[in-house]
Amino acid sequence: MEKTLSIIKPDGVARGLIGEVIRRFESDGIKIAQMKLIRLTTEDAQGFYAVHKQRPFFNSLVEFMTSGPVVVMVLEGDNVIERNRKIMGATNFVEAAPDTIRRCYATDIEKNIVHGSDSLESAEFEINFFFKN
Ligand code: RTP
Ligand code: MG
Repeated sequence: MEKTLSIIKPDGVARGLIGEVIRRFESDGIKIAQMKLIRLTTEDAQGFYAVHKQRPFFNSLVEFMTSGPVVVMVLEGDNVIERNRKIMGATNFVEAAPDTIRRCYATDIEKNIVHGSDSLESAEFEINFFFKN
């Protein structure tokens, strides 16, 4: 069964959207296989987002992702990487499809409530990053 990593970002946790995000996954038939609430260190966030190291938004993203607790989850289901990305909506919430998490709740391009792995390779890296067992 395919797996992907989901993160409810600090804005989602702070705004009380944990239940709302999980409800959307579960009502689509996606299973929560593993889950924990943690606070990322600067080193965690830099390592997790290493692919974006050269981007102009990198430092701001690391600061945001360490600003409060996050919920990290392993989601499981057929084609779950793509299904999760569809439920999340586009990175920039103004371009996200109606009724997606980001369209409904994001407040800017950075504070966009959720993260989801974007490929089989990134899902494997990201799941191992948080759930080594
Ligand atoms: P994510 O990795 O969080 O699931 O989001 P994504 O694939 O849709 O977007 P990505 O391009 O991987 O960017 C990662 C996160 O960086 C922040 N971002 N800020 N200021 C900006 O222009 C900008 N662009 C991206 C967002 O929090 C984005 O989700
Ligand atoms: Mg990404």
